[in-house]
Amino acid sequence: MSKHRVTLIPGDGIGVETSEAMRRVVDAAGADIQWEVAPAGAAVMEATGGSPLPESTIDSVRCNKVAIKGPITTPVGTGFRSVNVALRKTLDLYVCLRPVFSIPGAGGRYEDVDLVIVRENSEDLYAGIEFEKDSAAAARLIEFCNQEGAGAIRPDSGISIKPISVSGSDRIVRYAFDYAERLGRKKVTAVHKANIMKYSDGLFLDRARAIASEYSGRIGFDERIVDALCMNLVIDPGQFDVIVLPNLYGDIASDLCAGLVGGLGIAPGANIGSEYAVFEAVHGSAPDIAGKNLCNPTAEILSAAMMLDHLGEQEIANRIRAAVRKVYADGTYLTGDIRWATRSDKAGCSCTEFTDALIRAL
Ligand code: NAI
Repeated sequence: MSKHRVTLIPGDGIGVETSEAMRRVVDAAGADIQWEVAPAGAAVMEATGGSPLPESTIDSVRCNKVAIKGPITTPVGTGFRSVNVALRKTLDLYVCLRPVFSIPGAGGRYEDVDLVIVRENSEDLYAGIEFEKDSAAAARLIEFCNQEGAGAIRPDSGISIKPISVSGSDRIVRYAFDYAERLGRKKVTAVHKANIMKYSDGLFLDRARAIASEYSGRIGFDERIVDALCMNLVIDPGQFDVIVLPNLYGDIASDLCAGLVGGLGIAPGANIGSEYAVFEAVHGSAPDIAGKNLCNPTAEILSAAMMLDHLGEQEIANRIRAAVRKVYADGTYLTGDIRWATRSDKAGCSCTEFTDALIRAL
C-alpha cells in the first residue's frame, strides 16, 4: 500500500498537460503516492449531463484530505459558476497561500523576491451573491437601497455583493500571523481600500489591527491601501514579507507578483482549510496554448512540492525545488513563456522536454 493517497483533479485546457508533467516528476522524485484521479469541469458536465463538480470528486478529496488540481475553465459572464470557487466553498478552504520567489534564469524583474500572499478565499466579491440586471430581485434590492437612503443604483444595473465578516477576517489574518511565526518570517502587511469601502474593507482592517496586537513584539505589522500596494510591489518587492488580503485584491496581487518573478508559468499555490488542502497553480487553463505541448508545468510542480511539505515529505519537496532551480539556471530547456519573460529570441522547448530535463536534474 502507498504511503499517501492524493486526489488528482487534472482539470482542463493546459491542466491535462501540467498535471501529467507534475505526476511524472513527483513519481520520479520517489514520493510514494497513490493518485486517485477525479474529474471536474465542462467535459464531465457534458459527458454526464450533471454538475461540473461531481459529488464523487468532492467525496474523494474529503476521504483523502489532500488533492492537487490543474486549472479549470470558467465560462465568462454566463454559464456555470466557477468550479474552483465551488470547491473552495464546499470544503471551506479559506486560505489561498501563494509563495512568490525569484528563480534565477526565469526572467524575473528582481533577483531577490521572497514573499507570501495569504489571500482570503471564502467571501468578498467572490461570495457568488449576484443579482442579474432586470431581475425582480435586483429591482427589489435597488428599491431597498433607495428606501434606506444608502444611495441610488441605476435601474439598469447588475449587482454583486461584497460581504466581509469579522469571523472570516479574523481567521485569515490569524492564519497569516501563525504562518509567519511558523516559517520564521518577520512581518505581515494587511491590504485594504478602507478609505472607500468603510464597512467591508474597513472591518477587515480593524480586525487585522486587533489580531496584529496579539502578535506584537513577535511579528511586525503594517497596512497598505491596495492601489499603493501595487505600485510598491513593482518598485520594491523586497520590502514585503507576508501579505494578507481580502479575496479580490489577493487574486489580482497574486498575478502581479507572478509577473515580478517570471510569470504565471512558475507561480504555485494552495487552498487550505482546517480539514482539507487542495494544491494548485495560480494560472488558469490557458486556452490559447492548450493541447499544443507548449505550456510550462513548473507552477503545478512547485504546487506539488508545497503538497509534499504538507504531507511531511520535505526532503523530496526540496529535491524537486532544487531540480527546478538547476534547470532554470542551466537555461537549455525553457518553455516559451520563460523565453518571452527573459526577452530571449531562442525558441521555447515543449512541456515534455522541460519535464524530461527536470527529471534528469532530480
Ligand atoms: P490564464 O492563466 O489561463 O492565462 C493567462 C496567460 O498566461 C495566457 O496567455 C496563457 O497562455 C499564459 N499562461 C498561463 N499559464 C501558463 C503556463 N503554465 N505556461 C505558459 N503560459 C501560461 O488566464 P485566463 O486566460 O484569464 O483564463 C483562462 C481560463 O482559466 C478562464 O476560464 C479562467 O476562468 C480559468 N482560470 C482557472 C483557474 C483555476 O482553475 N484555478 C485560475 C485562473 C483562471
